[in-house]
Amino acid sequence: MKNPILLPNKEAVRAANLSNYEEQSKSFSWKEAERNFSWHTTGNVNMAYECIDRHVDEGRGDRVALHYLNGEEEYKLTFSEVKEKTDQLARVLKKHGVQSGDVVFIFLPKHPDCYLAMIAAVKVGAIAGPLFEAFMEEAIRDRISDCEGRFLISDPELVKRVPKQDLPCLEKVFITGEPDDCDANEISLNQELAETNTTGSPIEWVGLEAPLNIHYTSGSTGKPKGIIHAHRAMIQQYQTGKWVLDLKEDDVYWCTAHPGWVTGTVYGIFAPWLNGAAVVVNGGRFNADSWYSVIEKAKVTVWYSAPTAFRMLKAEGNKLLQQYNLNSLRHILSVGEPLNPEVITWGVESLGKRIHDTWWMTETGAQLIVNLPSQAIKPGSMGRPIPGIKAAVLDDNGNPLPSGEIGHLGIKASWPSMMKEVWKNPEKFSTYFPFKDWYVSGDLAYQDEDGYIFFQGRSDDMINSSGERIGPFEVESKLIEHEAVAEAGVIGKPDPVRGEIVKAYIVLKKGFVENELLLADITRFVKQKLAAHAAPREIEILEELPKTPISGKILRRELKKRDLEQVYQRS
Ligand code: PRX
Repeated sequence: MKNPILLPNKEAVRAANLSNYEEQSKSFSWKEAERNFSWHTTGNVNMAYECIDRHVDEGRGDRVALHYLNGEEEYKLTFSEVKEKTDQLARVLKKHGVQSGDVVFIFLPKHPDCYLAMIAAVKVGAIAGPLFEAFMEEAIRDRISDCEGRFLISDPELVKRVPKQDLPCLEKVFITGEPDDCDANEISLNQELAETNTTGSPIEWVGLEAPLNIHYTSGSTGKPKGIIHAHRAMIQQYQTGKWVLDLKEDDVYWCTAHPGWVTGTVYGIFAPWLNGAAVVVNGGRFNADSWYSVIEKAKVTVWYSAPTAFRMLKAEGNKLLQQYNLNSLRHILSVGEPLNPEVITWGVESLGKRIHDTWWMTETGAQLIVNLPSQAIKPGSMGRPIPGIKAAVLDDNGNPLPSGEIGHLGIKASWPSMMKEVWKNPEKFSTYFPFKDWYVSGDLAYQDEDGYIFFQGRSDDMINSSGERIGPFEVESKLIEHEAVAEAGVIGKPDPVRGEIVKAYIVLKKGFVENELLLADITRFVKQKLAAHAAPREIEILEELPKTPISGKILRRELKKRDLEQVYQRS
């Protein structure tokens, strides 16, 4: 049965920042969006200035910029306070030699310090490199060493996971909070903040093409690649904050992603602050109770999360939900993985709101295909391209396919938030453009006769678990470091809650026999060395792995087929 189309209510259409989608799609040009920035008249470019200082300079300094909640702990910072704090942190970074174009890695939990560090790094013209808080030794080593990172901001707990002995490039490590005692290259930030001269603006004006941030992202081959975005990304990040998040002056906005993922940076920091909204920051891990309580306590109006989280909330049932007053919610959005129609139905029935799916990628730097509050939602569809963006479904030769046919989801290049480069890897960058000026996403999709786009999977082996992008190669490399593992092949296995889970097929070394303890040890090994989200949730032992006859490459597709056949046999 086809899912019914969900129309927006009249009030939502009237109040939406983008209510005339068809008209704007014909007439909008990105040049128009540039008028919203102070640099349009002053010529002085810096993302951090537009996010924070500008609001202070224009008389909005007393408005709330950040609302932190973590259990019993709760406080707010105004734009003026964030300006002051990030100015001082930026002065400290400068004093210690951080210059325009340096990468400053930031390894902090979802805590205001992480948000302040991001803005401070950008203020001094550095490239902010946020690292996901669940990363372990190997994931951290890969990223910092790839960039030959000289600077890191961390806290007394997380810094313990940084393998400094393997990172001779790391010159200075700034530690927040109260470090017990600091190693030779460690600097207590609190002490430095107090001792550094507080005068003078630390802002470095840069060009629109200057590098802004780096996010490492996984593909189906090799180690994660560093995707660099430029300050020009702010044009689209501001505009999508306005149109898609539909942010208004008084909004209290909560993006649940950690800044280590691109969503947490772009839509957890930049887009809402460019629009002057209050950003909610919630510490700790997912927990249905505390999430509902954050919405109630902070009176969240706009909420951006992911399908796995919605599915987990749905699974908790309505009894829990009814204990909270969620009436503040006005607009809900989703990203990162397919949003199943049942979840949209849950949203309508339980929250009284449509959930708006959005599509984009680390590489694209901002949302491209979206459901808008003023437009009809076709459950199962990621929506339509925003004005200013042309998308198409392409055949294997790069020709647009007619509606209904499945092919490669492509976006006509370029757009303001398009990645600037892949860190020191121009060959990788060019692989995104196999057909001249089409950016090819690696996603498979079809478009219906109204232009709505429906996600149909990936054309490669990349795994998407709970909206987190996992490269099978990274996990396989870690698995074969375990003393019992001879070979490993890793796939994404369909999962009703997480979208996919990581499943590993392994061949054991001679002398090892399969048993539960061994499998648990192998999982723990990946968790502790790489990251919890990348550890296999399922391991199956095989005598041998399927391989290509000539090059001997592991055929993950065959493993996927095998897994699906097992599921069918069981059902
Ligand atoms: O496969 C698509 C999936 O996530 C990939 C991008 O992952 P990442 O770079 O980590 O960025 C995630 C959030 C911006 C895409 O190639 N993806 C993203 N959004 C959706 C999606 N799959 C289905 N529906 C979506 N709305």
